[in-house]
Amino acid sequence: MTNQCQLAGQTFTLDRYPPEQKNRSLQAWDSADELLLSHALPILQQTATSVLLCNDQFGALACALAAYQPVQLTDSYISELATRHNFNQNQLDLSVLTQLNSLAPLPAAALVLLKLPNNHSYLRYQLRQLKQQLAPNSTILASAKAKDITPNLLAIFQQELGPTSASLTVKKCRLITATIDPALPSPTTPQFPIRWKTEDDQQLLINHANVFSREQLDQGARFLLQHIPVCAPEQRVIDLGCGNGVLGLAMLERQPQINMVFADESYMAVDSARLTLAANRPDLLAQAEFSVDDCLSQQAAESADFIICNPPFHQQNAITDHIAWQMFTDARRVLKKHGRLRIVANRHLAYSEKLARLFGGCIHVASNAKFTILEAIKRN
Ligand SMILES: C[S@@+](CC[C@H](N)C(=O)[O-])C[C@H]1O[C@@H](n2cnc3c(N)ncnc32)[C@H](O)[C@@H]1O
Repeated sequence: MTNQCQLAGQTFTLDRYPPEQKNRSLQAWDSADELLLSHALPILQQTATSVLLCNDQFGALACALAAYQPVQLTDSYISELATRHNFNQNQLDLSVLTQLNSLAPLPAAALVLLKLPNNHSYLRYQLRQLKQQLAPNSTILASAKAKDITPNLLAIFQQELGPTSASLTVKKCRLITATIDPALPSPTTPQFPIRWKTEDDQQLLINHANVFSREQLDQGARFLLQHIPVCAPEQRVIDLGCGNGVLGLAMLERQPQINMVFADESYMAVDSARLTLAANRPDLLAQAEFSVDDCLSQQAAESADFIICNPPFHQQNAITDHIAWQMFTDARRVLKKHGRLRIVANRHLAYSEKLARLFGGCIHVASNAKFTILEAIKRN
């Protein structure tokens, strides 16, 4: 079994999310969690202080520290769902947990446990928020694989917070300890959210710190933008996994009379899509809905005419096709009869087979050296 673990002297059953994922060799916790807990527990046992958990992907830290009424801060709706799932299956009381999303104001915590996020912009954003909100004597403990703890990374902590040190390697991980120096001037760049223009100067894209494709168009999105269809007026269209909303914005520009839903599991992505639309076409905001969701779980069956999607092929560091598969399955449920799903994907990913299995076939709209655009139609 790969979902049984010992953390903070207790035994837990911890799943990644969604729990039915095929790749059971991946675990919902890691040695970086264990390292953080081994340093945090003595502090918590001595001082019963308030603890903030940042980027606790599947809730391992929150479960282990449930007795200390933790506050969990994440940009990921999937992480929130995973944590609630793991609380429930370990019979932990969910009322002791506070979950805050990445755009919410931070609480006053004296101890912060931070799992290193994948992208350094988001790390900077989080450290900047911590410096602004926390008392100067707060302790920030961060952990990650030793190979990810580079001089550049430590410099980010030093620039954004103040004095920082890193431990020796334990089980391939290292612990970073940082304290806040209130006299340290905060870096003025980069400024969040990041604003940038497409090469043709046509669109202003606005990305919060943790959003995909932060300073240039993703190559798949760039190709799909050359194949944006014109929908009929009044149709309901979904930009599934919207990121900064670049695809949904293009759909609205092609046909300003559609109703557009921007959906993503990242709080920062959904808010970036809202900011992008507001910056480019404020006149169309009233026709848009913004939905933080796990794929299309909150959308009614047979409620959309068209879905456009540039699906992810990894969950944090793990390469996976389970999200794309879930997106296509949800799309089939949510599309009306004759509704269409158009996707872009790397050519080597066998998505046409997946779509054929779900929809009974799919059309090759276009291909280039790297990408394919496929369209599936819901026939019944
Ligand atoms: C490849 S990016 C595409 C972003 C944007 N549409 C573009 O083309 O630039 C995939 C997006 O899917 C989102 N995503 C990942 N898992 C998701 C899930 N379970 N439900 C909804 N969105 C998800 C990611 O946050 C990311 O924004």
